[in-house]
Amino acid sequence: MQHDKVLILDFGSQYTQLIARRVRELNIYSEIHPFNKPPKDLDQYKAVILSGSPMSVRSKDAFHPDLSEIRGKKPMLAVCYGAQYLAHFSGGEVAESNTREYGRAKLSFVEDSDTFLEGIHEGSQVWMSHSDTIKILPKNGVLLASTHDVQNAAYKIEGETTYAIQFHPEVYHSTDGKQLLENFLVKIANVNPDWTPNAFVQETVDDLKEKLGNDKVVLGLSGGVDSSVAAMLLHKAIGKNLYCIFVNNGLLRKNEFTDVLEQYKGMGLNVKGVDASARFLDALAGKSDPEDKRKAIGRVFIEVFDDEAHRIEDVKWLAQGTIYPDVIESVSATGGPSATIKSHHNVGGLPDFMKLKIVEPLKALFKDEVRRVGASMDMDKTLLGRHPFPGPGLAIRILGDITAEKVRILQEVDAVFINGLRDAGLYDKVWQAGAILLPVNSVGVMGDERTYEKCVALRAVESTDGMTADWVNLPYEFLQKTSNDIINKVKGVNRVVYDISSKPPATIEWE
Ligand code: XMP
Repeated sequence: MQHDKVLILDFGSQYTQLIARRVRELNIYSEIHPFNKPPKDLDQYKAVILSGSPMSVRSKDAFHPDLSEIRGKKPMLAVCYGAQYLAHFSGGEVAESNTREYGRAKLSFVEDSDTFLEGIHEGSQVWMSHSDTIKILPKNGVLLASTHDVQNAAYKIEGETTYAIQFHPEVYHSTDGKQLLENFLVKIANVNPDWTPNAFVQETVDDLKEKLGNDKVVLGLSGGVDSSVAAMLLHKAIGKNLYCIFVNNGLLRKNEFTDVLEQYKGMGLNVKGVDASARFLDALAGKSDPEDKRKAIGRVFIEVFDDEAHRIEDVKWLAQGTIYPDVIESVSATGGPSATIKSHHNVGGLPDFMKLKIVEPLKALFKDEVRRVGASMDMDKTLLGRHPFPGPGLAIRILGDITAEKVRILQEVDAVFINGLRDAGLYDKVWQAGAILLPVNSVGVMGDERTYEKCVALRAVESTDGMTADWVNLPYEFLQKTSNDIINKVKGVNRVVYDISSKPPATIEWE
């Protein structure tokens, strides 16, 4: 890679990923590594950021790595726990503070001529989240800024490009936080902010060309953003040698298989649509436990994909739309690096396509970056803006057992809801939405007749990563119209409810 890189050493803070995102928003490439497994070659990084942590530096279990390879040798910014640990490591003192400092504070300057504070507003809001405080600055420490409760809120070490802040610049509540990161990285560490989506596309395509040569690659398209953007990058690099397979498991949204397949073909992709709905429905017959349903779908998908991959002669590679959050190793609160890499197969009995070499062009990107990369390749906005949709599809939104008729009903209901969101200009304001078919019938009255039909729930959530979510406050008028449209248009449904549970304690999907 020809760009300057920033290393973020993770001490387990819930905000570590946010630091990486903010840095990347500055068009600077950053990587997260656990503090206890730093990369061997530190020379490749132009600057280092130490993250926060749930730990106290005073605890005997605290993380106390040797910073001597970094401090004074490279520009370093230490955040929260990082700032405390830097003080502790360099001859200062950290003590328990009288109150746990959590939330908003206002910054006042002590030494405002430093480049670090250029463009930062005196009195600007910063976000604190800590229970220890730095009592004594490290040797050669120079105080730069304080808040009402925290004297040593920002400091530097004289004669070095070493800076430390007690607050979190990476959260939006720190209003000038991004400017502060830019000051440190661009003005102090001289990092070149040239890591743009266009540059990423160009370099990735060049790398893929070199790596893949004339080899054939197979990729499973899902209709989602990640696999679509991965396909487009590979298509640019190797054209017809990319063989895409798009499987209809019969559990997609209404018309999705045909619409998305057409869209893929319109993009010039070499794609084969495989309608295996009947095979999936057969495998699901009589199954009502959510995990049994997931397993059956996973198994049939592998069978179908393997059959198709076999038809491609001499294929060498399997491409995947894996993104950065899937591969980051982060430090758990208990200290050990916890890998979040998903392993999804048993060694030994692997289907043939899984024995292929793996290529993952999006492995370094966050979801929002994937969307920007897609946009820079002029991919369709509706494709890039699509809500996440689970692999097992409507199977986990039909509670209990699955029949073709139930799938039909739910597809109709879901289409009324999703099209309604689009028509009302609400689709892009919602992170994920869908309908759930409940295993209850309820009494209704239509015309003069008593009915006894299905009840559906609507779900719409706001989220950034699906880990936590809030239900969306959709306008009553919209809910009213949607409910009427569903009951009038979808035969078999006479009642609509709206799910007002957040995650946690609920989950986004009902199964
Ligand atoms: P939950 O229900 O766990 O969902 O709050 C969080 C996010 O994950 C999606 N989800 C799945 N995606 N296979 C998938 O590919 C699954 O089995 C699965 N279950 C949940 C869900 O749609 C949401 O975006």
